[in-house]
Amino acid sequence: MSFTAEATPEKIQSRLTSRVIGRRLQVVAEIGSTNDAAAAAGHAGEPEGLAVVADRQASGRGRLGRAWASLPGLGVYTSILLRPDVPPLQTPLLTILAGLATADAVRGVGDVEPRLKWPNDVLIDGRKVAGILAEMATVGERVAQVVVGIGINVHHRPEDFPAEVRTTATSLGQTAGRRVERGEIVAALYNAFDKWYEVFSAGDRAAILAAARDRSATLGRPVTVISGPERWQGTAVDLDEDGALLVVNGRGVTQRVLAADVSIR
Ligand code: BTN
Repeated sequence: MSFTAEATPEKIQSRLTSRVIGRRLQVVAEIGSTNDAAAAAGHAGEPEGLAVVADRQASGRGRLGRAWASLPGLGVYTSILLRPDVPPLQTPLLTILAGLATADAVRGVGDVEPRLKWPNDVLIDGRKVAGILAEMATVGERVAQVVVGIGINVHHRPEDFPAEVRTTATSLGQTAGRRVERGEIVAALYNAFDKWYEVFSAGDRAAILAAARDRSATLGRPVTVISGPERWQGTAVDLDEDGALLVVNGRGVTQRVLAADVSIR
């Protein structure tokens, strides 16, 4: 089904219960990256809550400079503009929050139990169903805006994924017991995001961290931490108050991991 039929602004907005997130909405057929569009709108003065959602991205991107394949007709590619009143150090928690919201949305529309792989992956049965890319702009010491981009694999069959992720990725189509329309999942995502963002804005970081610990696929597991050319092994033991991963290395020393790739061994 074409995106225009499956995720019209009306289909999305008629399902919204959110206060802010997605109330201002741009639905487009094709775009470079929804993160760039939401960032540009933010720089032009758009208030927080704007969501941009596209059927296809010509240059969708993931974390650490990777590409995010964004073929038409298959996934949800969306970005949300935020203006959180917090110091830059606290913004990594927004990635965790987005993971929780995505997991809630995915669980709500499919009969699945998603888990969070730190920092930005949502897994079903150990395979990645969604990824998050948060990008911040600062003015001096202050956060001017954060764009949280979320990609959810919806109608993908195994052969629709790039070869390098085919054995590690999945989609709602392969895991949910029914066909999920993208308008439905987008609305569920904005509603869940709105709820968690309210918790964040009220300063209740402990509630976000508690939920993230509860649903983590990473904590308690042996992991390999990959940071540029560096690679080391340890056991993931906790999240700290900013959302960093605490990993005990081979010498028994706890290391704080913030901007790295972590694979579960
Ligand atoms: C990752 O897992 O590395 C993050 C993937 C994030 C992909 C989404 S799709 C919508 C938004 N626009 C982008 O260019 N990237 C994010």
